[in-house]
Formats: sequence, structure tokens, C-alpha cells
Amino acid sequence: MEYFKSIIIVHECDSTMDLGRKLSEFISPPFVVRSDIQTLGRGQYGRIWRSSYGGLYFTEVLPLENVLGFSTFISIPIIRVLRKYVKEVGVKWPNDIVVNRKKLGGILVEKSKFTNTGIGINVKNELHEFDLIATKVSNFSSVEVDTLFFEILEEESILIDEFIKYGFKAFKEEYEGYLVFLKERIKVESSEIYEGLVLGVGDSGELLLYTERGIQRIFSGTVLNYYE
Ligand code: BTN
Repeated sequence: MEYFKSIIIVHECDSTMDLGRKLSEFISPPFVVRSDIQTLGRGQYGRIWRSSYGGLYFTEVLPLENVLGFSTFISIPIIRVLRKYVKEVGVKWPNDIVVNRKKLGGILVEKSKFTNTGIGINVKNELHEFDLIATKVSNFSSVEVDTLFFEILEEESILIDEFIKYGFKAFKEEYEGYLVFLKERIKVESSEIYEGLVLGVGDSGELLLYTERGIQRIFSGTVLNYYE
């Protein structure tokens, strides 16, 4: 855990993304802020991230100079740790943490003065009855939230120097081993809708899709029709 200079844990806040941003005026990064509960947790594309007690919710405030590929890289330490407890965990490009076509966790990267990286993992929290695409760690293992938290930080601390030195490309093959739809046909919504065969990822974490118009490199977007 040597990489992180401070770890702040609170019981409740609106969102650790906002708390992290406020704290960065007083605390020097890299630091982590975690909350047991969030009253206004948010996900990608402005979605709500339900954050009741029993889940793992934290934001890392990081002084990264080059963020290219970081949002893809960050799934590596998370999956390495989760695989100890939930064998089939994989990643849905770019960084949804999934198991059996259901969502176990998500990552939200926001740039301000620093790179604020929010991580939410369903562990023992009550899932909303309408949230049919979600699943949680406790369906597979009785591992504690605290254990997951500290193990993820530890694993990331080990890997981050390599990421800073060599970028995402040092983790490309490992990431492809976790990618849930490698060699399958998918549809991706980006600046337009692309359809094709997943070949893997590029050096910056971009998706390589073999389409009718040749190989497309997609740097941001979302895979459609994945969750059941
Ligand atoms: C996603 O939509 O997949 C990303 C979800 C990110 C949720 C985490 S929980 C901790 C941090 N605080 C937030 O409000 N969101 C992120």
C-alpha cells in the first residue's frame, strides 16, 4: 500500500468523487477516500450508483501525468483480487467488472486537477429489486469488504510503477485474458455504432474491432446488448 499516502474512511457522504475532489485541496495525492454509504453515488453516463451499506465504494485521487489507458489498466488489480474469491470474473470493455453476464462492479474516471478514479463493487449490499443486471460478491464468497479494499490497494501499489513507466501496453495480454467477448461479434456505441469481431485491445486500451470496413480502433464507447 506504499503508493497511497493517506487513506480516509467515512461512514456516509454524497459521493466519494466529490469528497475526494474537496479533500484534494488539503491533502496531497495520491490518496484514497472510501465511504460505507453514498447518498448520491454516480456511475457512467450520469447514471445513479446505488450505494447502500455492505458494498465497497471508494475514490482514488491520483497525480497522474499521462492518463491514456489508465481507465482500462485499473481493472487489472481489481480483477486479480476478485478472482481469488469469484473465479469467473472478467472485464467488459473498457472497465465493467462482470460475472456470468451480470455487473459486479464499475469504474468511473473523472479528470479535475487530478485523476479521480471511483470504484464501486457490490459485495454484501442489498441489490435493488429492479437491478436485474447486477450481482454481488457475497453470491460467491463470504470475503469481507475490508479485505477486498486493502487487497486491491496493495495490488495496485505493486503495479502502478509499471503502468507509469510503460503504460497500458505492459498489461495488454493479461487484460485480453479477462476480456469477456474476445473473438466474438459485438455491437459498440461510440461516435457511431460499430459491429464486428473483437480482436483484442491496442497499446492504449482501445478496442480493436474487425468490421466490414476493416479494423476499427475504438477509444471510448459502450458494448451494447451484453447484460441479460
Ligand atoms: C459505472 O457506472 O460502471 C461506474 C460506477 C462507479 C461507482 C463508484 S462508487 C465510488 C465512486 N463514487 C461514486 O459516486 N461513483 C464511484
